[in-house]
Amino acid sequence: MSTTVITFGTFDVFHVGHLRILERARASGDRLVVGVSTDQLNIAKKGRPPVYTQDERAEIVRALRCVDKVFFEESLEQKADYIRDYSADILVMGDDWAGRFDDLSALCEIIYLTRTPAISTTEVIEKIRL
Ligand code: CTP
Repeated sequence: MSTTVITFGTFDVFHVGHLRILERARASGDRLVVGVSTDQLNIAKKGRPPVYTQDERAEIVRALRCVDKVFFEESLEQKADYIRDYSADILVMGDDWAGRFDDLSALCEIIYLTRTPAISTTEVIEKIRL
C-alpha cells in the first residue's frame, strides 16, 4: 500500500530550506501532497502579503519532482480536514512547529523535521533590502 505524506507552508521567495524539507517529506512516503497557504492566510498570519502570489508560489512548488499534488491551505484550523481529504498517512512539519500538531496524531503519524539552518524567507528579504 502506498503512503501519502502531507505538508504545509508559504514557500515564498523559494529557497533551499524549502526544497530540502519537501524532498525529505517525500522520502518519508510514496506520494507528497503540499498545502500552499493563501495570500489571505499570510496577511492574517504575518501581517504582510507574500512577495509572490499564491498562484506563483503554487506553480513553483508544483513543478518540483518531489511534489505530486498542490492545493491551497485556506485556514490553519483546517489541517484535520485536509489530512482526511487527501487520505494522508503522515503529516510532516518543520521543527519550528515541534509539538504543535500532536493533537492530530489520532488521524495520522506526525513527523517534525529539522529546519535547514541559517536561511528563511524573512532573512532573504532582509539580505536583499540591505
Ligand atoms: N523550512 C525549513 N528550513 C528553513 C526554512 C523553512 O525546513 N530554513 C521549512 C519550514 O519548517 C516549513 C516549510 O519549510 O515546514 C515552509 O516554511 P515557510 O514558513 O514557508 O518558510 P520560511 O523560510 O520559514 O518563511 P518565513 O521566514 O516567512 O517564516
